[in-house]
Amino acid sequence: MNNILRIQPAAAAPAHPTSRAPLAGRTGAVEFRGITKRYAGVAAVDDVSLQIDAGEFVSLLGPSGSGKSTLLMLLAGFTEPTAGEILVDGRRLDQVPPNRRNQGLVFQSYALFPHMTVQENVAFPLKARGFPADKARELIEQALRRVRMENLAQRYPSQLSGGQQQRVALARATVFDPPLILMDESLSALDRKLRKEMQVEIKDLHHELGKTIIYVTHDQEEALTMSDRVVVLQAGRVAQVGRPLDVYETPCNPYVAGFVGEANFIDGAVNRINGTQLEILTSLGVVHAVSTQRWRIGAKVTAMVRPEACLVRVPGRTGGTLDASISGVVSQVAFLGDSHQYHIDTGPQSLVAKVARSRQNDLFAHGDQVEVGFHREDVRVFSTDES
Ligand SMILES: Nc1ncnc2c1ncn2[C@@H]1O[C@H](COP(=O)(O)OP(=O)(O)OP(=O)(O)O)[C@@H](O)[C@H]1O
Ligand SMILES: [Mg+2]
Repeated sequence: MNNILRIQPAAAAPAHPTSRAPLAGRTGAVEFRGITKRYAGVAAVDDVSLQIDAGEFVSLLGPSGSGKSTLLMLLAGFTEPTAGEILVDGRRLDQVPPNRRNQGLVFQSYALFPHMTVQENVAFPLKARGFPADKARELIEQALRRVRMENLAQRYPSQLSGGQQQRVALARATVFDPPLILMDESLSALDRKLRKEMQVEIKDLHHELGKTIIYVTHDQEEALTMSDRVVVLQAGRVAQVGRPLDVYETPCNPYVAGFVGEANFIDGAVNRINGTQLEILTSLGVVHAVSTQRWRIGAKVTAMVRPEACLVRVPGRTGGTLDASISGVVSQVAFLGDSHQYHIDTGPQSLVAKVARSRQNDLFAHGDQVEVGFHREDVRVFSTDES
């Protein structure tokens, strides 16, 4: 794992750095300290404090307007914070202009230069940094080979597909060996298949070069599959930071639960408490849950269960040990390839269930009477009390 800062050919790829501990000699650690950015008094980024280790792949995830791009622009130096400070490798960046920050940028607004060939585009950051010609040639070749664009080096951007342009942008952002790479919605214009391919290439690049990557996306699936950690933003603030699985399985509030995946919310009140076992009275009947939090009888809550944790079965069928059984009628069926998604009208509200396609699982059609069930361990409970 030594010498990760040197650009290496694919064959010499070091193992994936999964540990959050910074490796000795590694650079590219980022710290936001109480960063706020206001536009006309309105906070686009609001008191964000966040530490990102060298070599980490961190996604900033949030809906449109939640402050993702602003946070990245502040780090890149394209805009000044209203308050707070940003440090890279322990050094404050306040006085460092964008072109001296040594960051690889893949922003939508920072597209390829149309009048330059692929080769010239990738050469640009090296020229700007005064690399000697033969060293530059070697690095350009290496960077283009890494993104499999070496055969198209003489083409102009207009002669490339969207995915090829993205790969060149990636080569341009990494050719000068920056310790820190910032990517803003870089794949959003691509079709699903190409997007998946590029995701793999970016992850490969991350494994291979061991760079710190900060990756902005509003696509939760992309954030969950790619990142070491996910930062969920809500109106300019950090709502939750954690490993993808933790954020998905134990979201800190309904907003995060609903943003990192699909979720059913069933409102009710705590009716009985037995240690960590909760009984919640809802308009769909009793819902059981397991929670280590302290609750009081009568507390208003919402119970969250993911569609894939919902089982759908023929009414009255016994067997299994489900903790809830809610009657309903299938109101919508969507075939998703690997699964079926059912909307089930239970009367007071609709529930969404996602059932993996397998010979064991019954198929249901619009209008079928069904029962929806789930296990208490799959239910998360959030307080909805105003106080
Ligand atoms: N230059 C600006 N002047 C005024 N307001 C701005 C400016 N830039 C951003 N904002 C506001 O700051 C908030 C955050 O914007 P930002 O671009 O960071 O959001 P985002 O999370 O990147 O959204 P998207 O997913 O749409 O790209 C928005 O409400 C936006 O309107
Ligand atoms: Mg944005």
